[in-house]
Amino acid sequence: MTRHRILLLPGDGIGPEVTAAARQCLEAVAAGFDLSFAFDEAPVGGAGIEACGEPLPAETLHRARTSDAVLLGAVGGPAWDAAPRRPEAGLLALRRGLGLFANLRPVKVFEGLEDLSPLKRDRVVGADLLIVRELTGGLYFGEKREGEYEAFDGCAYTREEVERIARVAFEAAGQRRGRVTSVDKANVLATSRLWRRTVEDHAQAWPEIALDHLYVDAAAMTLVTQPARFDVVLTENLFGDILSDEAAVIAGSIGLLGSASLGAGGPGVFEPVHGSAPDLAGRDIANPAGAIASAALLLRHGLGLPGPAQALDAALADTLRAGVRTLDLGGVTSCTRFAASVCERLDRADRLADRKAV
Ligand code: NAD
Ligand code: IPM
Ligand code: MN
Repeated sequence: MTRHRILLLPGDGIGPEVTAAARQCLEAVAAGFDLSFAFDEAPVGGAGIEACGEPLPAETLHRARTSDAVLLGAVGGPAWDAAPRRPEAGLLALRRGLGLFANLRPVKVFEGLEDLSPLKRDRVVGADLLIVRELTGGLYFGEKREGEYEAFDGCAYTREEVERIARVAFEAAGQRRGRVTSVDKANVLATSRLWRRTVEDHAQAWPEIALDHLYVDAAAMTLVTQPARFDVVLTENLFGDILSDEAAVIAGSIGLLGSASLGAGGPGVFEPVHGSAPDLAGRDIANPAGAIASAALLLRHGLGLPGPAQALDAALADTLRAGVRTLDLGGVTSCTRFAASVCERLDRADRLADRKAV
């Protein structure tokens, strides 16, 4: 039996709580599908600073590189806001170190949660989109200068960087509803004009995919006025960061969203879209759904196990449909209890599958 090596990077704040919940679900999946997972754990972010003085200790990066997939919680918190190297730098170094240029952030409305969004029900029903965010370029990784009276963040993109993320978006659209909306600021930014030209050229090879372009300001508006209009949203690093938090409004809570960060063949990092939520940390009240959805993405994209991924997604959707809700969703269920509910549903689903097989 293949032993899949999964590295857990719980990080800070609610990171350890939601990661433990997702691990519990992965263990239930392993039991149900006769899979073998070997879990290892290492510090990152503030936890890395405390343990080794570095937000991404060399040993953590090494263990990430030699794993099959990485499940990350979240990094950051007020304790390190004034630190010379912030916890967030560890996450960026991990993405860069593993070459994870493609960040997939699926957003959809879970059945039963349609009224949780502050948007009107008829707007959110049917919303199901995938944000494909470029993750290792742009302002995040450009030249930086930070003085007392002047600071500078450079934004650069190469044609090759745009092409490889465009390929990911078009491939994804081919598996979905066949539409890519590329989001840029080509009326102002040179990098956006390169982005748009490159995406246009790339689209020539995909006649079956419908491509359109939106400026990021208009995209921000359209995301909340007509969310169901979108299929795949292709965008650069900073725009993707901002739009994905905005898109959480469609689902009802940022605690529901998972993500996959993928590169060219090495291990991927799977993490919820939310941060370390210091206001909730240590109270067992965070919503682990985003981490559990990330674990399903890990099974699908990280380990190539679509069946188990689908079972975990279904158990998560069933749990939410049944009204099991954490505080952010207007409920009282704890983080650990929510995960236990997902595991119970996985057990039932497996027993059902067994019976069908007999
Ligand atoms: P945040 O996502 O941590 O919190 C924003 C709001 O959403 C808060 O009200 C929080 O309570 C709520 N929330 C977040 N996750 C939730 C969950 N699972 N269940 C229920 N409610 C949830 O964003 P922030 O407050 O801007 O940032 C806090 C820290 O996290 C900062 O240090 C920031 O840099 C860091 N951060 C890290 C990541 C990451 O590790 N990927 C992502 C975003 C922010
Ligand atoms: C995210 C986070 C990170 C980002 C931060 C913590 C570096 O906001 O994963 O969305 O900006 O990419
Ligand atoms: Mn973000």
